[in-house]
Amino acid sequence: RLVSMTEMLNKAKEGKYAVGQFNINNLEWTQAVLTAAQENNSPIILGVSEGAGKYMGGPTVVSAMVNALLEAMDITVPVALHLDHGSSFEKCKEAIDAGYTSVMIDGSHDPIDDNITLTKKVVEYAHARGVSVEAEVGTVGGEEDGVIGGVKYADLEECKRMVTEAGVDALAAALGSVHGTYDGEPKLGFDEMKAISEATNAPLVLHGGSGIPEHQVKRAIEYGHAKINVNTELQQQFTKAVRELLDTDKKVYDPRKVLKPGVQAIIDTTKSTMDMFGSTGKA
Ligand code: G3H
Ligand code: ZN
Repeated sequence: RLVSMTEMLNKAKEGKYAVGQFNINNLEWTQAVLTAAQENNSPIILGVSEGAGKYMGGPTVVSAMVNALLEAMDITVPVALHLDHGSSFEKCKEAIDAGYTSVMIDGSHDPIDDNITLTKKVVEYAHARGVSVEAEVGTVGGEEDGVIGGVKYADLEECKRMVTEAGVDALAAALGSVHGTYDGEPKLGFDEMKAISEATNAPLVLHGGSGIPEHQVKRAIEYGHAKINVNTELQQQFTKAVRELLDTDKKVYDPRKVLKPGVQAIIDTTKSTMDMFGSTGKA
């Protein structure tokens, strides 16, 4: 059975490790990350952006697929199904009604008062149904699903207000991370991070987790991050492995054979990422 993020994130913050949100794109992707979680005995958050959800046939299809896989694969580790970067109350409601156990409402591009009001509305609907909520303050840079944004650091007072007034379960305080790839090393605001974590005591969420070097990941966890989102890294490793096969084997045409090395790459990458986040063995 799917669970919300609340318990897994509180345990992670307490135990100084982070639970990975791994974004899924299709059946094989979901099988791969669930295999990794079960083999690593790690909790996992399945991230589904609105675009990926639509690609898979909509939230009801995603929810039905994930629930059926948990059963068929005998998954016993904690799994949350989470709407990534929900753009409106309606989109969050649609996901919750379809069976998602967690949602992110991303009102980060609105003025803070509007962001808090919107988030609070989502929290009221979600909490009444046992669903956890993540909010974003400041803005993550880079591109996701065609939405391009610049980096704006999260403000400490705004973070405090978001946690106390809206009552969120997790807070994405944007501090220099970007979606997609980094040019050189990311420049994360560690001082601000520490201050926000201490002032809010909320589990923090690090977006743009792909390509952040291990020492920075460790420090982000030390300073209150309990959830790290990874999307691009899995996509790159999957595509690299499939491309290698297609480059070397000009005769292959069975899609199951074409995708096989890609699936294995997702499993391997997810497992090593869980090791780095410290969530391995924490189910
Ligand atoms: O919300 C999803 C993440 O922030 C993914 O970022 O694609 O850079 O790993 P990434
Ligand atoms: Zn993100």
